[in-house]
Amino acid sequence: MNTESGKRQLRTVLRSKRRAIPPKQQTLAAQALVNILSMQPWLQRAKRIALYWPADGELDPRPIAHWAWQHNIACYLPVLHRWHKRKLWFTPFTPETLFSRNRFGIPEPIQHRAAPLSAHHLDVVLMPLVGFDRHGGRLGMGGGFYDTTFAFKRRQNGFTKPRLIGIAHSCQEVEQLPLEPWDIGLDAVVTEEGMIV
Ligand SMILES: Nc1ncnc2c1ncn2[C@@H]1O[C@H](COP(=O)(O)OP(=O)(O)OP(=O)(O)O)[C@@H](O)[C@H]1O
Ligand SMILES: [Mg+2]
Repeated sequence: MNTESGKRQLRTVLRSKRRAIPPKQQTLAAQALVNILSMQPWLQRAKRIALYWPADGELDPRPIAHWAWQHNIACYLPVLHRWHKRKLWFTPFTPETLFSRNRFGIPEPIQHRAAPLSAHHLDVVLMPLVGFDRHGGRLGMGGGFYDTTFAFKRRQNGFTKPRLIGIAHSCQEVEQLPLEPWDIGLDAVVTEEGMIV
């Protein structure tokens, strides 16, 4: 089995596991997540962080935005780049942000007049994922958006901002993900059970 079809099969299995999580458990997981993350010095020190609007059973990081707003940390959400077809930009997310649906049906902030922020300027990125392993491996939805956006980190051996944090339910862990050369590694993963560095 090649890597690509291995990834495809894993996505099917892991996405259905994620979608099967009942709403009550989702709410508890989101609360556990904010409790764990708000204790981290690197998040407390951050000035700009990116999170995501949850879909498809993803662990909801929005309570982190509420915490961040109270601590004067600016929040951003990914938006599709205007002309680069695989790249993400990051637009401000405040309590006043209005949303519309993008071409994938995912709510996306109605963009401000100012150009969105490029990935280099973020301190921490909370990344959604379909699967993760304990070696920093990340399996996404298959678009290559996060891989392309953060490819600059791989060229600099990871010693550069932003810190990439995978956010996932613990049931999304696998022993060893099939990875390809362009897959970007995670600095840590946080689940409802704790942080895995
Ligand atoms: N740095 C890159 N430059 C060009 N193409 C890329 C790059 N990274 C990924 N891609 C392309 O994106 C496609 C999907 O990649 P992959 O299967 O790893 O997606 P993913 O990691 O699950 O998605 P995402 O990054 O959106 O979460 C690949 O077919 C690959 O050709
Ligand atoms: Mg990838």
